[in-house]
Amino acid sequence: MLSEERIALEELRKTVREETERRGRPLTACVVTFGCQMNERDSEKLRGILLAAGFEGSDSEEADVVIFNTCTVRENANTRLYGHLGHLNSMKREHPDKIIGICGCMMQEKDEVEKIRTKYRFVDIVFGTYNIYRLAAVLNERMVSGKRVIEVWDKEKGIVEDLPVKRDVPWKSGVNIMFGCNNFCSYCIVPYVRGRERSREPKDILREVESLAKDGVIEVMLLGQNVNSYGKTLDEPMSFAELLEAVCKVLGIERVRFMTSHPKDLSDELIAVMARNPKVCRHLHLPLQSGSSRILKAMNRRYDKEGYLALTERIRAAMPDISLTTDIIVGFPGETEEDFEETLDVVRRVRFDSAFTFIYSPRTGTPAASMPDQVPQEVIKERFARLLDLVQTIGSKQSLRDVGRTLPALVESVDPETPGRVTGRLGNNVCVHFEGDESLIGTIVNVRLDQAHGFYYIGTAVL
Ligand code: 5AD
Ligand code: SF4
Repeated sequence: MLSEERIALEELRKTVREETERRGRPLTACVVTFGCQMNERDSEKLRGILLAAGFEGSDSEEADVVIFNTCTVRENANTRLYGHLGHLNSMKREHPDKIIGICGCMMQEKDEVEKIRTKYRFVDIVFGTYNIYRLAAVLNERMVSGKRVIEVWDKEKGIVEDLPVKRDVPWKSGVNIMFGCNNFCSYCIVPYVRGRERSREPKDILREVESLAKDGVIEVMLLGQNVNSYGKTLDEPMSFAELLEAVCKVLGIERVRFMTSHPKDLSDELIAVMARNPKVCRHLHLPLQSGSSRILKAMNRRYDKEGYLALTERIRAAMPDISLTTDIIVGFPGETEEDFEETLDVVRRVRFDSAFTFIYSPRTGTPAASMPDQVPQEVIKERFARLLDLVQTIGSKQSLRDVGRTLPALVESVDPETPGRVTGRLGNNVCVHFEGDESLIGTIVNVRLDQAHGFYYIGTAVL
């Protein structure tokens, strides 16, 4: 943490203490997250700062301070935020002391900030993706001055290490390994709202993983927009495969995952490291986006259909039991029925365990938004339904593959629906419910998978 941030936190702590005394009760704070794992992790940092400043954590938007950590990857993420804001406006009329903050990806868009500034005047603080660590300073300024504070930077600065963090669960954690993205896929807003790619120093990452392990964490998820290009910008370059191997060696860490991989950068070295390290989960999320080489070119993905298929074959040859999942966009500008059939063809050939399917959403400022031949909504909807049907049919068949096998599951909770059962997560991210009690939470248990039910299994612990 920078020394100015320590000072800001100290000042906020003082303000919170005074305000707590004045109101005669603790102040509560709630962080609401939209978007990806990257945002989830950022929110853990925001909560860490708020708790360190003396707020009591809350899950309710009725809290004294509510921060929305936003996403803007598709238009519906923006729409969801405005839905919440409408609701909070009425709460604020009844409790004028309430503080509402918005941060994250959507606040890196000038038009959205302008809309908040002019039409959502009850929003008290606004900051972006590059300065989340400024929360203490920004919030304190608002609490002391009573005036709204809008602080959005248009460019990334250095990486700030050692922010306080409040983890959602004690036994697993995300770990940022890099920030930003240099790929500029033509549909994607991320490079504009998260800036240029920058990697954390391996020593900082390993130090964090070691301290998480000491703290009881047994599973880490290495996070970056494009983890496969990790380390290229470091003074002493290091590959993602080397980093992954080093993380696997940390004592106490039993499982390692990572997100997200770009097919163009996924190396044979990485496949080899995964194959020889049992700690690396047998799961790879490998966004396809489209199966048509023509559309992939227009998307600026820099691989083609054949390249993607060949890559998945190499992965399966090295790890026959791996689970492959993907992201697919339907209705990119210019997508014809033939292009769409190519996507279905890849889905049939690769047999993904599951796929996130998205309707193309034009994002202001991206090249695709101004491309000709935007696909009509009714065509997109019809294709989307066909794709979803295929993905689900194949996914449920794929899940039968593991029935009868005994696999390690990290127990996450007691099953809310069936007393006497717990829910664990397998290496491929799928849930399994089996007999057990609360004492198993946070431990890894070998479970025989007895029945597949599409998105989950019923199993039996094998002790
Ligand atoms: N429209 C629809 N889906 C998108 N994604 C990214 N940008 C868009 C967009 N403009 C999807 C991609 C990506 C996932 C995180 O979101 O499939 O992999
Ligand atoms: Fe959404 Fe992308 Fe930001 Fe994640 S990085 S929160 S997906 S816009």
